[in-house]
Amino acid sequence: MKCEVKRAGIVGVGTYVPERVMTNFELPEILDTSDEWIRSRSGIRERRLSADDESTSDMALKASWKALENAGVSPDELDLIIIGTNTPDMLFPASACLLQDGLGAKNAGAFDILAGCTGFIYAAVVAAQFIAAGTARTVLVVGSETLTKVLNWKDRNTCVLFGDGAGAVVMKQVPEDRGILSVVLGSDGSGGKFLKMPAGGSRMPATPDTVAADLHCLQMNGREVYKFAVRAMEEGSSEVLRRAGLTVNDVDFLVPHQANIRIIEHAAKKLHLPMERVVVNVDRYGNTSTASVPLALEEALQNGKIKDGDNVIMIGFGAGLTWAGLLIKWYDCHR
Ligand code: UT7
Repeated sequence: MKCEVKRAGIVGVGTYVPERVMTNFELPEILDTSDEWIRSRSGIRERRLSADDESTSDMALKASWKALENAGVSPDELDLIIIGTNTPDMLFPASACLLQDGLGAKNAGAFDILAGCTGFIYAAVVAAQFIAAGTARTVLVVGSETLTKVLNWKDRNTCVLFGDGAGAVVMKQVPEDRGILSVVLGSDGSGGKFLKMPAGGSRMPATPDTVAADLHCLQMNGREVYKFAVRAMEEGSSEVLRRAGLTVNDVDFLVPHQANIRIIEHAAKKLHLPMERVVVNVDRYGNTSTASVPLALEEALQNGKIKDGDNVIMIGFGAGLTWAGLLIKWYDCHR
């Protein structure tokens, strides 16, 4: 029996960031830190903060409407909605179900993926499998994050690094000479301890004591995550190239997870990839976790950097520990 595999690609992109800008200069008012330290150690100058009444699915909805409009797709056409997030509106139901309701996407299945900051790329890889197998034709993939609501604002090791935002893409079958050429998914659970939110789950249910001890906030061993991140970015990118039979010379753009400019530059150097071919916006948004790759992708498209036929690597890493990459030959359906 002939098994027909369809090639999946991205046919629409949309993003949303909250209005409130917090610059580095506000942080020394609440913590022992400085603009100089934050900029030189991370490259971050400012980040966005979601409003008190603004949730992950609210931001996902705003980014999704833009992505659907950009793709020329109506909510009824969606077969599946996947959100990669670490900060769902609630532990359950899935934020993707809330988004499905908000969009009125009555024909879509919906679920969330929890893969740390790698969640958007994990979700895009899952969507590509549904499309390849013919089980879904049109999939909405979202990275949306309100990490500033789960930060410990007394912990200078973490709170200066993160920001909020959302990015969405519509994925469909594309012409055979375009779309996703190769993917890689990885995990190393032994490093789970390096980036976690200890309380609020079944291991340590929320109590007044866990809340008083800030155990429902993000905790991170930055040095360990840094070492892992550089390795994951380099090895993941090399692996998607190897699987597609391409080399670094074939890469037009790398769209990396935006956690720290030093991690990005270090990985690019190890890959022998000039920084002109690397998309960077960590300076303006900080680490927006699952939203960072679609936010950077949209910016590169808006600036006219990424064009039809370009080879683009999206690469991420995060809590889990996880990493994932995909290599896509860009399809510009608006040509
Ligand atoms: O999406 C994945 C999530 N996470 C990441 O990607 C994070 C990966 N890690 C990193 O980006 C970096 O490790 C950090 C930016 C977190 C830290 O940079 P670093 O160069 O590794 O600094 P460090 O942790 O080695 O700390 C150096 C010093 C320490 O002081 P002592 O012990 O040397 O006296 C820290 O206490 O800097 C101090 N420090 C700060 N000082 C001012 C840590 N945070 C701050 C701060 N302001 N905000």
